[in-house]
Amino acid sequence: MISTQWHLASRPTGEPTSENVVKVEVELPELTAGDVRVRNTFLSVDPYMRGRMNEGRSYVAPYALNEAMGGAAVGEVIESTVDSLPVGTLVQHQLGWRDISQAPAGQFSALPIVPGVSPSLFLSVLGLTGITAWTGLTQIAHVKEGDTVFVSGAAGGVGTMVGQIARLLGASRVVGSAGSAEKVELLTSKYGYDAAFNYRDGDIAGQLKAAAPDGIDVYFDNVGGEHLSAALGAFNDGGRAAICGAISLYNANGGSGIRNSQNIVTRGLTLKGFTMGNYYFLAPQFAEVMRGWLTDGKIAYDETITDGIDNAFTAFLGMMNGKNVGKAVVRL
Ligand SMILES: NC(=O)c1ccc[n+]([C@@H]2O[C@H](COP(=O)([O-])OP(=O)(O)OC[C@H]3O[C@@H](n4cnc5c(N)ncnc54)[C@H](OP(=O)(O)O)[C@@H]3O)[C@@H](O)[C@H]2O)c1
Repeated sequence: MISTQWHLASRPTGEPTSENVVKVEVELPELTAGDVRVRNTFLSVDPYMRGRMNEGRSYVAPYALNEAMGGAAVGEVIESTVDSLPVGTLVQHQLGWRDISQAPAGQFSALPIVPGVSPSLFLSVLGLTGITAWTGLTQIAHVKEGDTVFVSGAAGGVGTMVGQIARLLGASRVVGSAGSAEKVELLTSKYGYDAAFNYRDGDIAGQLKAAAPDGIDVYFDNVGGEHLSAALGAFNDGGRAAICGAISLYNANGGSGIRNSQNIVTRGLTLKGFTMGNYYFLAPQFAEVMRGWLTDGKIAYDETITDGIDNAFTAFLGMMNGKNVGKAVVRL
């Protein structure tokens, strides 16, 4: 059995290129007792993977050179040595970036097969991006009735969930920023945003002020940099920020200067960063809430699907450059 896998060949400086990765065909050994073999059907490509291409301290280990990269995936068990995961079981796991994954059974979790629900949704709405949006709003920014919420990266996997969940939790005004006129239109027409703007048009602070003339109470930060400075300038007293990501800086060497930080003191702001690894204990609670919303038709979603293991790296680069609407996934 051959597994086609993407390995990190060298560590990128700035934007990754095809020189930094290599697609490798690996002959898998026979299963040993306790192992399962899975044919993946969907792979996730996520911004945090860019950080794992670097060396050095982060909240997840760097990818090793010349080994398969990891990431979330869903698939079907095609060979098994354990009773708990028989052939045909739908599973999720972290051995992505490859078409066939093989490992001890403990590395795979069985998923329910829900009629009408694509397994890919366990990588998005019912998976990382959904739970990240919900956790950031409920546990970090403590969104409440009547809040005005600003979301950056609003048309992406996390961002499309944040706007809708904020509204379901009582926010009275939800505004978002994204990187194209088409995305901005989608935010107001499909995702229920009251106002949205294209940050590529410039003057983020001015555009935010026009979208939220009475200021913001909550900022869900997917982008960092200039967006964070603008949010700090727009906060009302007692404002709260869930610092979820900083994609504008992931290809940059070093950080950016943050402006308006004096408002953290004068307006009594709370800024809190979080990574989902510390909050997965909430997964059962989240699953119940989100399944209810999905069943009731309260959650819209998009997936940007790229076909084929050969195109996985292209899908990753496309997501980093804003080619996706909603969650970017690779279908095998
Ligand atoms: N804390 C956690 O545990 C956690 C978990 C999941 C994700 N995250 C973070 O959440 C954020 C969103 O992740 P996601 O998976 O939902 O990805 P995503 O938003 O679906 O895709 C990334 C998006 O970032 C935008 N982008 C790229 N460069 C940008 C720039 N310079 N300025 C502004 N926007 C830029 C692009 O959209 P545009 O067209 O709008 O530019 C692109 O579509 C990321 O920062 C990620 O690291 C954090």
